[in-house]
Amino acid sequence: MDAPLSKSPLAVTSADRLRRPLRDLRISVTDRCNFRCIYCMPKEVFGPGYPFMRRAELLSFEEIHRLAAILAGQGVRKIRLTGGEPLLRERVELLVEQLAMLDGIDLTLTTNGSLLAKKAQALHAAGLKRLTVSLDAIDDATFRAMNAVDFFVKDVLNGIEAASHAGFGPIKINMVVKRGMNDHAILPMARHFRGSGHVLRFIEYMDVGASNGWRMDEVVPASEIIAMINEEFALEPIAENYAGEVAKRWRYQDGSGEIGVIASVTQAFCAECSRLRLSTDGKLFTCLFATQGHDLRQLLRDGASDDVIATRIAGIWQAREDRYSEIRTAATPSAPGSKKIEMSYIGG
Ligand code: GTP
Ligand code: 5AD
Ligand code: SF4
Ligand code: SF4
Repeated sequence: MDAPLSKSPLAVTSADRLRRPLRDLRISVTDRCNFRCIYCMPKEVFGPGYPFMRRAELLSFEEIHRLAAILAGQGVRKIRLTGGEPLLRERVELLVEQLAMLDGIDLTLTTNGSLLAKKAQALHAAGLKRLTVSLDAIDDATFRAMNAVDFFVKDVLNGIEAASHAGFGPIKINMVVKRGMNDHAILPMARHFRGSGHVLRFIEYMDVGASNGWRMDEVVPASEIIAMINEEFALEPIAENYAGEVAKRWRYQDGSGEIGVIASVTQAFCAECSRLRLSTDGKLFTCLFATQGHDLRQLLRDGASDDVIATRIAGIWQAREDRYSEIRTAATPSAPGSKKIEMSYIGG
């Protein structure tokens, strides 16, 4: 007799309504950050009285680990820890240690680099395999205008250096480009990181959240960035590392390394989006631009079984039809009062 078909919800979750499988999980471990980047947490909005989450609201490491394990059983293959600034979460390396033990998971983390010099060694020892560091300019004046907290470039570079020494590499460096703010820093950044072994990626400024007052004319299209760099250093496109990679890769023809562009505005990649986001307080978001999340914390704290939680997640994924970046228009409002969720809460 044939074995009965398994009905276990812990089996890989079937694709969403647009036939996209669930592969990536981005976990925001804190909604706090020690930077106030103008495109993410502008200080006029995220001022001294801003109501960040209280500790009891955050998922504990045990809760995060449990959800991650369930999701790994449902098809997730990559987990990225983000924030806010994930290294501000106390003893985050303990969470890394737990997640690193999950089978078959590519575990990585995005940081602003401010605490990296202190933490790189512990993160590597805990089993973190890859690292992405945000850096928006290589000169202090521009970088400080972007981070709005007078942080020095040198301190981020020291963090990157410490991470290299700890054994991370190649490290990805993410630069969000906002026209009129740091577009003049594109070439200096390319010159600096060319030949370093790190992979610099330029990100189109997006209308995430409801605070940054985004305008289409402030986006520097990836094609313009590539053309600008190509004039100084000849570039050629290279194949993607894996299906659905968000960055388009380019290589310096003289062999001095590669760069990437993330054209989420001018060349949306929703068609292959396999990303699910878990907010600091345990809500699942099926899109960076979602206005509502699906609470899992209550289920966890009510004592739900893994099966019940897995079934709920599968239902959320299978109902998913988000493709915000494909249908965004230049007129999409990003005004205060809009319901879009802030990136620092949902995970960058
Ligand atoms: P690797 O795992 O190293 O390949 O990382 P990645 O290429 O997936 O890039 P990463 O996760 O660091 O994302 C870089 C940036 O791309 C983010 O900070 C966002 O600005 C943007 N981005 C990532 N995922 C999405 C997404 O699902 N939608 C949109 N619109 N933008 C995204
Ligand atoms: N546009 C594009 N990327 C953003 N990030 C945050 N806000 C934005 C935005 N408005 C991303 C950047 C940063 C990471 C933490 O989040 O990549 O490096
Ligand atoms: Fe902090 Fe990163 Fe947002 Fe900047 S982009 S405010 S470093 S979370
Ligand atoms: Fe995925 Fe939403 Fe980003 Fe499109 S806009 S790539 S659906 S997260």
